Amino acid sequence: MLRSHTCGELRLSHQNQTVTLCGWVQKTRNLGGMTFIDLRDRYGITQLAFNLDWNEELCQKARNAGREFVLKVTGVVIERESKNTVNPTGEIEIKVESLSILNAAATPPFTIEDETDGGDELRMKYRYLDLRRTIVRKNLELRHRLAIETRNYLDQLQFLEVETPVLIKSTPEGARDFVVPSRMNQGQFYALPQSPQTFKQLLMVSGFDRYYQIVKCFRDEDLRADRQPEFTQIDCEMSFVEQEDILQTFEGLTRHLFKTVKGIEIPELPRITYAEAMEFYGNDKPDTRFEMKLVNLKSVIGGKNFKVFDDAELVVAICAKGAAEYTRKQLDELTEWVKRPQIGATGLVYARVNADGTIKSSVDKFYSEEDLKKWTALCNAQAGDLILVLAGQEEKTRKAMSELRLEMGNRLGLRDKNKFSCLWVVDFPLLEWNEGDPNLPESLRGRWVAKHHPFTSPKPEDIELLKTNPGAVRANAYDIVINGVEVGGGSIRIFNKDLQALMFETLGFTKEEAQHQFGFLMNAFEYGAPPHGGIAFGFDRLCSLFGGAESIRDFIAFPKNNSGKDVMIDAPSTISKEQLDELYISLKN
Ligand code: AMO
Repeated sequence: MLRSHTCGELRLSHQNQTVTLCGWVQKTRNLGGMTFIDLRDRYGITQLAFNLDWNEELCQKARNAGREFVLKVTGVVIERESKNTVNPTGEIEIKVESLSILNAAATPPFTIEDETDGGDELRMKYRYLDLRRTIVRKNLELRHRLAIETRNYLDQLQFLEVETPVLIKSTPEGARDFVVPSRMNQGQFYALPQSPQTFKQLLMVSGFDRYYQIVKCFRDEDLRADRQPEFTQIDCEMSFVEQEDILQTFEGLTRHLFKTVKGIEIPELPRITYAEAMEFYGNDKPDTRFEMKLVNLKSVIGGKNFKVFDDAELVVAICAKGAAEYTRKQLDELTEWVKRPQIGATGLVYARVNADGTIKSSVDKFYSEEDLKKWTALCNAQAGDLILVLAGQEEKTRKAMSELRLEMGNRLGLRDKNKFSCLWVVDFPLLEWNEGDPNLPESLRGRWVAKHHPFTSPKPEDIELLKTNPGAVRANAYDIVINGVEVGGGSIRIFNKDLQALMFETLGFTKEEAQHQFGFLMNAFEYGAPPHGGIAFGFDRLCSLFGGAESIRDFIAFPKNNSGKDVMIDAPSTISKEQLDELYISLKN
């Protein structure tokens, strides 16, 4: 090694030792007679001291070392006169005896500090410099720790990590595939895996029994803070299991990670059904750090000639604890907030329960205090609380209320990022009717589509309904949700060829299409497929939750921006005519 120690490890106990350090210049301070350099590496920052009286030449050399120069210094560890209590190495400094500049550096386009002056795009373009910042590096260290602890936990339970291919055939998981043209097979394409779903099921047929992989997945979908086109899953599958076994095993993984990485003991994970999640939170990934459940007011609002409520499919309320003091201005602003197109409500009704117990609402014209008491009783509202009500078409209103609930959670400071609330959502519907999502390929519009994926098994007692009422069929499918984020999802799989064929038929595949796309899996099921099931955690999401951040980008070494671009390497980019010709691709002008 070129160094004897790192920049993070020297303490007073090393006093008088001669050491050699290597690192980058964080900062140079020239105080006349004395010059100080903060030398930084992955492990920390150590102060280097130079004095004109000790060695004039060396001092001059130090003054010429610019920001981010790479240095190697040898010197003696001495006690500092003015100690820095924040920095772990702050009690000592190095009295430098020799210095070599290993490499000069151009002035970086932004400051390499926790609070940097670089904007998002600039930092993305120079991501390798951004990664020098402690705050960003810490995120990747957390990611590493989570990966190690995941492997420790799964290894101890006999899971085998098996790699599956990246150039595959399209697997339908609800997003578009990224495709790769094949030079050797003219006009044919590989797809990058949206997940290793079919391969892990094949591994179960092969008898691998417990598989996992920390694996890259690729989905060509619209990007958001918690979505990247390439992301990582902790992908798992087990044989000879029922849903309960999977829930126990991966609740165990979640507990293990919280305990070993964050030092937090989390309680047993509550379970709620999909139907309950929708009813009480308007959402299948509820943020349960706070209550504020949705309350259906239908039974208490009728017959008062308030058309908005009378005509509505759903009239739903939340009770914001302690928010009765909201001013008229705040309420008007909240009303504008729910009317924004992203939320889509037509208006907002409110009722305040004043400190003296009287109730004042925005619909006093229609509802007497006696009527309003029925609302407050249903909502369990106390003096000082504010009831907020939305009305309209069922699905839209529920969705809008779910958003309003989260917004009120934010405004009332109920979504503390250092608090964790985990739960299972179970009994998802097997199928959902797709009216014609413009994001889906034409062939998938206006038909039943798999809510999870087509290999998810229906609950045995609901199989009969597949032919008569597909929308009512419940699946053996579950999601793990933490703080309102869908961290993972999985299911017990179909392992019977005939049931799988019925599923494909329900999804509108002809026998030939099903055979063409999934023949390999159905054929494999002829050779002794065990009952099996699994789950995949979104690893980037898990990291960002553990790190208390909203965006998963901060936890990926080289992420894409919101348009799916890597601005550092400039990808995607055009390719040469020769490359295109070789791939038999002609571009439309
Ligand atoms: P699913 O599609 O639910 O299931 O994905 C599992 C988890 O992966 C994460 N995730 C993403 N994270 C970042 N960016 C994305 N674009 C993205 N898409 C999904 C989510 C999600 O919960 N094969 C099945 C799993 C199984 O059935 O075992 C699957 O992929 O956290």
